[in-house]
Amino acid sequence: MSKLKQNNLNESKGFENFDDCAIFKINEKQSIIQTVDFFTPIVDDPYLFGQIAAANSLSDIYAMGGQPLFALNITAFPTDKLDLNILSKILLGGQDKCLEANIPILGGHSIKDDIPKYGLAVSGIIENKKIITNSNAKINDDIILTKPIGSGIISTAIKKNLANNTTVDAVVNVMKTLNNTASNHLYNFKVNACTDVTGYGLLGHLNEMCKASKVSAKINFSDIPLIDGVFNFAKQNIIPGGSKNNLNFYQKNIFFDPEISNFKKLILADAQTSGGLLISCPKSESKKLINSLNKISKYKSVIIGEFIEKNKANIFCK
Ligand code: CO
Ligand code: CO
Ligand code: CO
Repeated sequence: MSKLKQNNLNESKGFENFDDCAIFKINEKQSIIQTVDFFTPIVDDPYLFGQIAAANSLSDIYAMGGQPLFALNITAFPTDKLDLNILSKILLGGQDKCLEANIPILGGHSIKDDIPKYGLAVSGIIENKKIITNSNAKINDDIILTKPIGSGIISTAIKKNLANNTTVDAVVNVMKTLNNTASNHLYNFKVNACTDVTGYGLLGHLNEMCKASKVSAKINFSDIPLIDGVFNFAKQNIIPGGSKNNLNFYQKNIFFDPEISNFKKLILADAQTSGGLLISCPKSESKKLINSLNKISKYKSVIIGEFIEKNKANIFCK
């Protein structure tokens, strides 16, 4: 066994806390961080799908405060049934997003499959002392969210042909926006914990943060930014199955104020694609962090609640 391997077996981390990346310590100063993600098209436009899938794959690196280095494509495509131009456009979307992230795509693997799928395996690097996980949120920290939620609900509305072009553009823009600006801020502001909001929804990822950090959270529905249209679609019960599953799975850990109706709970549990960062930041720093972020980022970061002492419920929502 190589020396590198021996050194690392005990110090490397998998996903035991639903952490965003695998961490492999390469020396006293640095670790390699790695993540992989791919999924089926959520929008009709192949180029936009490629961009969204790539932004989503990169997000786990950013959620840890890491620097992506390079990526590999993972592709499934029905080469015998669909025009290869579509595949080219998906790959171009991914490539352009990686250019924006300043990293090369150095290869990949593709298979023939009936349903197209695309995503990236991303390798990154981070200084060991700068690693930010989801397990260090502290009591009294503010909870900051950097993008509006509801992309699952809107994607379902798009599939049912209920969303107009403005709504489609709005959700595509949210999903293709990289989390790099927020990520670059994490270490400058003594952030205690961070994760990205993806498939388990805001409630799911916040619940994992609470569990791993041994704290509870208090959030206000009215403070949570929603993509335009989400509220009304949810009210009409246009909700993806995955979001309903999220709520079923996580609601035993959550105390909802009786004022919070079921469709609002489903919005909070909505499965996101390429959602924003969920940041735990000391109150002394959070305003400064938000001010600095909001000067440059496309979406307004907001405080949606705070962490409190560990309680019977992991999350209190009013
Ligand atoms: Co993640
Ligand atoms: Co992920
Ligand atoms: Co191969």
